[in-house]
Amino acid sequence: MRNTHVYIDLSALKHNLQIAKHHAPNAKVLAMVKANAYGHGAVECLPALTSADALAVACLKEAIPLQQAGWQKPIVLIEGAFSLEEWQYACSHDLQCVVHHKEQLNWVLNYNHQYKKPTIWLKLNTGMNRLGFKADEIVDIAKQLTDKGYELILISHFANADVKNHPSNLNQIAIFDKVLTTLRQQVSSNIQGSLCNSAGIVNFTNQHYDWVRAGIMLYGATPIAEQTADALNLKNVMQFTASIIAIHDLAVGDCVGYGSRWQASKACQIGIVSVGYADGYPRVVSDDAYVIANSRHLPIIGRVAMDMLMVDITGMDIGVGTTVELWGNQLPIDKVAEWNGTISYELLCLVTKRPDWHYLD
Ligand SMILES: Cc1ncc(COP(=O)(O)O)c(C=O)c1O
Repeated sequence: MRNTHVYIDLSALKHNLQIAKHHAPNAKVLAMVKANAYGHGAVECLPALTSADALAVACLKEAIPLQQAGWQKPIVLIEGAFSLEEWQYACSHDLQCVVHHKEQLNWVLNYNHQYKKPTIWLKLNTGMNRLGFKADEIVDIAKQLTDKGYELILISHFANADVKNHPSNLNQIAIFDKVLTTLRQQVSSNIQGSLCNSAGIVNFTNQHYDWVRAGIMLYGATPIAEQTADALNLKNVMQFTASIIAIHDLAVGDCVGYGSRWQASKACQIGIVSVGYADGYPRVVSDDAYVIANSRHLPIIGRVAMDMLMVDITGMDIGVGTTVELWGNQLPIDKVAEWNGTISYELLCLVTKRPDWHYLD
């Protein structure tokens, strides 16, 4: 047995959802479970998310298994339908859609159906310049949709919510606020709003509106630059472990791994760890990267390979079979992401099916 494991702590996920609710007591929570719940396994995570008000996914392919698994509350396709057929499917299966461009709008306005009209999440571009209608066109669009009987939620997305003082945040908030007020005055007082992702939930408590969209914070990584997950009382959900499968003594000048990138400057002992980039551990990490075993930091040396990585265990009480934590309760994923020049989101999404996966309640 290779002893490479991913443990998903469902009680931690449940706890983090409560933290999101605690930050936004007056808003409903849309739990972001796109990308297979940020790599955690969306269907398997459902039991921990029952107190979410709705789920959001990126596409139909992600939504269908959730409904098949018995999820009964709303599911939102956060990029909307990608074709008329998908819009028709969404209507017939009670899936809610974002509408962010003219083509989607045409499908909504021109497809007459007998189903209950799904709520539309009407996307406003407040400055991210990724998806959404401009402020000056959205009132007209909202009128057309409400005339057809659709309930609306105005939605927009921060570009820099993780950096509280970034000037674009105030601009985005001002645009969103103004448009929502106008829509409520000129179109319908029932129109709801949703602006905040995890970072916004923490950083912009006056902008929670009707719905917050909690993503990364559910999975126990920090959404903001200034505070750790621990400081935010978020609990780690994914623990990634492997084990030592071989130990070698090296002499001065001996090299380790592909490219002979690391060379022993003194006699040392190294351990070979049963994890590589094919499991989802990043191939390129900085020289200060380490894993943890027996409460010790084991520096990673040489190149991470497809199935293995190497660590310096000189002077440590480490044997073949010792478990090492790659990230988890002892080693926050945010730190590993920093070594890798990336963000926790990417690391979580890239863990593969090769390790043995376990769901713990
Ligand atoms: C539209 C939208 N809302 C909310 C989120 C959740 O963001 P976070 O994971 O930072 O909370 C995302 C994630 O990418 C998103 O695309």
